[in-house]
Amino acid sequence: MRILVTGGTGTFGRPAVARLVEQGHEVRVLSRRPSPKLPAGVQAVRGDLSSDEALRDAVWHANAVLHAASNTGLGLGRGDVDGTQRLLQIAARGASVTHFLYVSIVGIDRIPLIYYRRKLACEQLVAASGIGHTILRATQFHELLSGALLAVERWPIAPLPLSWRFQPVAAAEVAARAVELLVSGPQGRAPDLGGPEVLTVDEMVRVWRSHRGHPRRVIGVSLPGRVARGFQSGFNTCPANASDARRWVEHVAGLSS
Ligand SMILES: NC(=O)c1ccc[n+]([C@@H]2O[C@H](COP(=O)([O-])OP(=O)(O)OC[C@H]3O[C@@H](n4cnc5c(N)ncnc54)[C@H](OP(=O)(O)O)[C@@H]3O)[C@@H](O)[C@H]2O)c1
Repeated sequence: MRILVTGGTGTFGRPAVARLVEQGHEVRVLSRRPSPKLPAGVQAVRGDLSSDEALRDAVWHANAVLHAASNTGLGLGRGDVDGTQRLLQIAARGASVTHFLYVSIVGIDRIPLIYYRRKLACEQLVAASGIGHTILRATQFHELLSGALLAVERWPIAPLPLSWRFQPVAAAEVAARAVELLVSGPQGRAPDLGGPEVLTVDEMVRVWRSHRGHPRRVIGVSLPGRVARGFQSGFNTCPANASDARRWVEHVAGLSS
């Protein structure tokens, strides 16, 4: 297949691109970076989701799109909805794209974070695009949660929402599932994918401290509002769809100190 990957330089995108290359697909990656680090044989198309011209170049000749680009973190998904709309319009015009896979997040319709509202709007655009599509929702990546803990582990006291629940999953596991779905054809909303276990932040931090010795002191913070209640209730988890892949403890043990 000839596949355009957006977000191919990100946490999810890197293992997805590597897998597609391994399977012999012709892969292009849209990236804003002047010279992104990509596996041999992968073509980079420099550009932004906000540029029609870049998207036309990127989509040209592709018969499938794996759309994982997103203004993550403090970007709060700004620009994601317009960018996804633009990409879908260009993909629909070219007519060669027969499958569009969108990477999304479990619980975005139940937790009113602004980032999640924007992801939900993107999902709705994909579903209404008329292009054969798949939407894969996954739970939070190990890499995201370990990034958050790395940021606070040296603080003298780390204030954390200890009762929130997560079902962390390796980004590579989600990438493997996305690639499997992409090559097997459009299926609308695919089954959600979560990691092997649902853990509270308290449980995750205990594992973290036992491997890394930090943070030395942790205090639980209780946050008000529907977002906090959503994470406390585990609306971002899907225990019935747990994978049997890398567990949190294995991920933490594998991090360099
Ligand atoms: N992180 C999680 O826990 C998690 C869980 C479930 C689902 N997801 C979803 O998985 C997808 C990938 O997440 P991630 O954590 O891998 O993200 P990430 O590591 O932050 O990478 C973001 C990617 O998006 C690209 N990008 C951002 N803005 C762009 C723009 N305006 N134009 C073109 N490319 C742009 C970046 O490319 P360049 O910098 O090279 O331009 C980069 O490759 C997202 O849709 C996210 O919502 C994430």
